[in-house]
Amino acid sequence: MHLTVLDHPLVDHKLTLLRDKNTPSSEFRELVKELVTLEAYEATRNLSTTEKTVATPVGVAHGKKLNESPRPMVVPILRAGLGMLDGMMALLPMAEVGFLGLKRNEATLDIITYAQRLPEDLTGRECFLLDPMLATGGSLATAVHYLHDRGASKITAIDILAAKPGLERLEKEVRPEIDFSVVVCGVDDELNEHGYIIPGLGDAGDRLYGVV
Ligand code: PRP
Ligand code: URA
Repeated sequence: MHLTVLDHPLVDHKLTLLRDKNTPSSEFRELVKELVTLEAYEATRNLSTTEKTVATPVGVAHGKKLNESPRPMVVPILRAGLGMLDGMMALLPMAEVGFLGLKRNEATLDIITYAQRLPEDLTGRECFLLDPMLATGGSLATAVHYLHDRGASKITAIDILAAKPGLERLEKEVRPEIDFSVVVCGVDDELNEHGYIIPGLGDAGDRLYGVV
């Protein structure tokens, strides 16, 4: 697993606002969108390109364009990951979008897969998983193996906040043959007894969309 923790004053500023319990939902949603766009810059660093020559108004420029076949696959993990989709698609408009609905059983922290809408065959596809929170790592481990089992060749998770125990679990649990990276804005040391990241930012899904 390759881990990137963004180190940038814009990221620090926005993450601090996001953590603040007094930040209202409308602002929380905007901050999530802005943070994922900054993360996407890093997460897409290795996308493949082809040389392309274009005529400028005054000459010829030898540039590059992103390869569109196979199209990158963006997969928000419902529900909280949905809050990251618009920000990601703003940078990668040619991507396809698949959906994975995962829910933690709040008592056991086991993962329930309640929705899936993705191509059966992801052979050779680069996939970007979106989920603001990486707590115990159970949801992300489930999602990574799900995509790899369908043939995904490279998987990059974009999370806003991760907990150290969750990252350690992923190091152990994600099968070593999987080309897997994680990009986060920050890493907190602890989880509480309910599997919440401490100090974290609370329940990301609830802060985005309301309490269920
Ligand atoms: C949250 C979060 C992650 C998961 C992280 O989702 O969005 O998917 O918990 O926890 P883990 O690393 O311990 O698996 P939740 O299950 O609360 O569902 P929601 O997005 O519908 O709120
Ligand atoms: N899910 C969240 O939304 N927040 C946490 O701290 C842990 C899991």
